[in-house]
Formats: sequence, C-alpha cells, structure tokens
Amino acid sequence: MGYNVAIDGPAGAGKSTIAKLVAKKKGYIYVDTGAMYRALAVYFLEKGIKASETAKITEACKDAEVKLSYKNGIQQVILNGKNITDRLRSEEVGNMASATSAIPEVRKALLFLQKNLAEKEDVVMDGRDIGTAILPNADVKIYLTASVDTRAKRRYKELKEKQISCELEKIKQDIAKRDEQDMNRKIAPLRQAEDAVLIDSSDMTIEEVVEKICSLCK
Ligand code: C5P
Repeated sequence: MGYNVAIDGPAGAGKSTIAKLVAKKKGYIYVDTGAMYRALAVYFLEKGIKASETAKITEACKDAEVKLSYKNGIQQVILNGKNITDRLRSEEVGNMASATSAIPEVRKALLFLQKNLAEKEDVVMDGRDIGTAILPNADVKIYLTASVDTRAKRRYKELKEKQISCELEKIKQDIAKRDEQDMNRKIAPLRQAEDAVLIDSSDMTIEEVVEKICSLCK
C-alpha cells in the first residue's frame, strides 16, 4: 500500500502547483486526475461530440484508453497511444472536461487507473473527489480553496505565461460555472471530506501552503 495524500478543491485553487512541489519535497509521485478528465475531453472534442450528447459520450468512453507516464518526473498523458499532454490546458478542454465529468461512464473509465496508482505508489493525487470517493482512506486529506477572484487571476496569469489568449472576465465566469457544475453534480461532487484539512490559499504564498501540507505528511 502506498502513502496517499489527497488534495481536492475548486478550479484554479493552485492544486497542481502545490501538489507538484509537495511531491518533489517528499519524493512521492504526483498524479493530476484533472488531466485524465481533460484527456477524455480532448477525445470527445476530436470526435465532434457535444457535452450534451450523453449517449455518444458514454459510447465513446469504450474506445478511449488513458494512460500516464513520467518524463523527467513530469506527468505525461497518453490517449490511445498518443502523448497529448500539451493539448490539455486550454479553457475549451477544461470546460468540456467539467461538463463531461458528470457522466457516470466518464468517471468509471478513470476510477480503476486512479485507485491502482495510489495502491502501488506513494502519491500526491489532486482532483475533486479524491478524498471523498477515490481514496477515502488517504493518509492525508487537504481541501485547498481560494476566492473566485484570486483563482481567476491565477489562471489568467498561467494562461498568459503559456501564451494562450484569454480574458480575465471570461475566466472568472468559467471558474464560477465550473464550481457550480463540479459542486452540484450527482456523482462524486466536489466537497470537503469530513476528515480533510481546509486550507484557504487566498492570502498565502505557495511556499506557505507547501510547508503546511508537508508538515501534515509523514
Ligand atoms: O483540475 P482540472 O481543472 O484540470 O479539472 C478539469 C475538470 O475535470 C474539473 O472541472 C472537474 O469537472 C473534472 N474533475 C473531476 N474529478 C477529478 C478531477 C477533475 O471531476 N478528480
């Protein structure tokens, strides 16, 4: 059994940045589960399927195989044998991932992969339902959040740095919509697990958040 750290929280709370640093410091493997939902979203978009076409998405899940590999310690996402890591971060893909992750077959398609990784390895896994559904017995559970304003500004900066064109107002709307979808869906909605430690990072530096989480780990 691996040592498992679960970090959940809304879009743009800084989960991946923080989780990567914690993983590096502690020597654990970082698993970004959002990237897996994004990979399936890329697949649906490629097939021209709309988020509202549930039956087509359910069917398409049968032909989509998501795998992870690591290149210089950085997670790579392989969709049907092709490395699609550099296509995952756009707003279009994020919005599609949020809409389609509410569909049972989509979640089922990724469940085994996520549980299996955590069983074999020491992991920091980030997502929406890791502490509540995927790893209910995780050794450490964190619910990482920040205000919508803070999160929108961070995502804006992240996209700009990657030279992806974007508008702050639109990102704010997308984040609010994604929160609403992720928190109110029927299966595995985003919520703080009862035994999770709440961290609001609005007024904390990255280092402070990393320190706090590392101090909770073995
Ligand atoms: O974290 P990220 O923005 O990459 O996640 C994209 C979308 O994937 C989220 O908005 C959420 O709907 C979905 N997701 C999920 N469960 C997870 C991780 C991500 O439903 N464990």
